[in-house]
Amino acid sequence: MGIFQNIFKKEPKLEPLDLGILQTDLHSHLIPGIDDGSKSMEMSLDLLKRFSALGYKKVITTPHIMSDYYKNTPEIILGGLEKVKEAIAIEGINIEIEAAAEYYLDHRFRELIKEKNLLTFGDRYVLFELSFTAEPPGVKEAIFEMIMEGYKPILAHIERYPFYINEWDTINNLRERGCLLQLNINSLSGQYGPQVKKMAETIIDKDLIDVVGSDCHHMGHLDLMENLRTNFHLHKIANKPNLLNKIL
Ligand SMILES: [Fe+2]
Repeated sequence: MGIFQNIFKKEPKLEPLDLGILQTDLHSHLIPGIDDGSKSMEMSLDLLKRFSALGYKKVITTPHIMSDYYKNTPEIILGGLEKVKEAIAIEGINIEIEAAAEYYLDHRFRELIKEKNLLTFGDRYVLFELSFTAEPPGVKEAIFEMIMEGYKPILAHIERYPFYINEWDTINNLRERGCLLQLNINSLSGQYGPQVKKMAETIIDKDLIDVVGSDCHHMGHLDLMENLRTNFHLHKIANKPNLLNKIL
């Protein structure tokens, strides 16, 4: 009987969570035509309506800045943001929007840190991501340089990097160096694979997540999030009192 209980161990069935408890979504690609996210203003407005319907009060959208593929600049991103804001006002959508960026750790990013030319949100927070294929050189150095320049680094979707799966010493070391950690809510759905799902659950259980995000590129991501509202681990992380989303 014990064996069957373990194999079929089920998480408790929960009522659908009102995502309004998170207040603000951090990490999405909602400015049309400048990265692999929204393709048109119409699509951006549909996505923003859906965020509002899910309960969010605000989104901080984070277009990619990657020197090889997405050569976005503060001018391009903030120019795009203004157009989205105008369209939101015309449509009367009940949501606030800000923009920063998701910086890819490459040579150009290291230069931008030194030039003090990073797009930030909240209290000087900077969202950055790594290559998925292998841990790039300079992660610790980039974190140190950001902190020295007065920035507060946040590593995007920590649970998705194959080289960090269950690497708890490394992950604790990143936090000890002053790097906050962001989790993609949809990692809990299994959309990035069973290993990432398990890692997302474990990292929530270990209480190592500072902020969560949709990483929304299209409506499918918000469909998945809606379906996750009864998920035990989403309830667990959303009820964390000092989750950064609630004060952004
Ligand atoms: Fe992203």
